[in-house]
Amino acid sequence: MRRWWDDSQIPLELRGRAGLHHWSLAPESRFLNHGSYGARLRRTVACQQRYASGVEADPMRMLTDQLESKLHEARCGMAQRLGADPEGLVFCENASTAIESVLRSVPLRRGDRVVCLGHVYNAVRQALKRRCLETGAVPVEVPVSLPFDSVALEHAVLAEIQAGASLCILDAITSGSALRTPWTSLAAKIKACGVPVLVDGAHVPGQDPLVLRELDFDWFAGNLHKWAGAPLGAAVLSVAPERREQTFALLTSHHWDEGLSRSFHWTGTRDWSPWLAAPEAWDHMEEFSGGWETLRAYQRAGSKALDEAFTMAFGTQSITPDSARTAMCSVPLPESLQGIDCLKFEHEFDQRFGFRVPMHALSDQTMVRVSIHLHTELEDILALGEAILACANK
Ligand SMILES: Cc1ncc(COP(=O)(O)O)c(C=O)c1O
Repeated sequence: MRRWWDDSQIPLELRGRAGLHHWSLAPESRFLNHGSYGARLRRTVACQQRYASGVEADPMRMLTDQLESKLHEARCGMAQRLGADPEGLVFCENASTAIESVLRSVPLRRGDRVVCLGHVYNAVRQALKRRCLETGAVPVEVPVSLPFDSVALEHAVLAEIQAGASLCILDAITSGSALRTPWTSLAAKIKACGVPVLVDGAHVPGQDPLVLRELDFDWFAGNLHKWAGAPLGAAVLSVAPERREQTFALLTSHHWDEGLSRSFHWTGTRDWSPWLAAPEAWDHMEEFSGGWETLRAYQRAGSKALDEAFTMAFGTQSITPDSARTAMCSVPLPESLQGIDCLKFEHEFDQRFGFRVPMHALSDQTMVRVSIHLHTELEDILALGEAILACANK
C-alpha cells in the first residue's frame, strides 16, 4: 500500500489527513466510506449555500420566475459533462427516486419477468418487489459468482433475458461487492433482444468517463453526490429518446404531463440548490484532483493495492479482477469472521476502533468495503486492516 501512496504524483498536501481541511469532513474523521454518501469539498458546500441563500433572499422571483431557466442551465451543464443529450436528462433527488420513477412508468402485467442481478442494491430490490406485488410481475435475480467473472455473468443474464423479460435492471457498479459489470456491452445486447434496460449507475458519474448519448440503454440513473462531488440530493436520470414520453416523475405536480424536464423538475416545493450547484461541484472536484483521469487512476491503484494487502493479511482470495476494479474495494473477511452478523459487527467495530465501515454478505462471502478518494488516509486503511485481524484472531 505504501508504494501506491508514495508513487502518486498528486501532491501529498492534497491527500489524506493533510488535505482534509479542503473537505467538510471533521478533522478527526477516519472516513473510509465515500461510496455510500460521498463527501463534499468546502468550496462546493459554499457554492450550494450561495444558491440556497439566493432563494431565501427573494423566494418569489427566484422560484416562480427564475428557477426554470436556472435549472435548464444546470441541466445543460451536467449533460455536457456526462456526454448526454440535455433533452433527455433530468435531475432527481437520488438514484432511488430515479429508479422508482422508471419502475412506476413501465407498464408491468401479471407474469411479466423483471430481471436483475443477485447483487442488486437492496432498496432497488425492495422497490421492485413492491411493484411486482402490485402488478403480479415476477422479479428474477441472476446469481453473481465470486470471484467475479464478467463473461459468466453476461451469459447468465442473457439466458434469463432470452427466457422472456419485460424489463432488465442492470447494476453498472454493484454496491456491496463494488464490481464494475460489463454493463455497456450487456445493455446493448439486452436492448437488441427487445427488452428495455434500466441501468443502475448510482456509482458511475465521476468514477467512469461517460458519453451517455453514445451508449445503449433505455434509462440510466446516476448519483452525483457519490463520486461527482455534488451536494447530497443530486442525481440524474438519462432517458433514451423513445422512452421520454412515457417516463414520469414519481410525484405528480403541476407539470406532470408537460414533458420530461417539467415533470421531474417541479415535484412540489423543495430545495433545488443541490441541482443548481451540481455542474460547479463537478468542476471543483476536477480542478482539486488535477483532472478526472488522474483521480480515477489514483483511486483504482489504491483499490488494487488495498485488495492485495488485505487479502494477503486475511488469507482470503480477491473477488475483483482488474477489469471490474472500481474506486471501492470489497475484500472477503478472514475465515473466522465469515458468516458474522454484518450490522452488529459494524457497530461493535466502530465502538472498539472508531471505524464506521460497511460489511456485506453476498454470494456466500462476508466482506468489508473500503472506498478510496483523495481524503482517504493511508494510515487509516492500515489501521483498519489491523483492527479486522485483531477481531479475527480473538
Ligand atoms: C448500486 C446502488 N443503487 C442505488 C443506490 C441508491 O442511492 P440513493 O440512496 O442515493 O438513492 C445505491 C446507494 O448506495 C447504490 O449503491
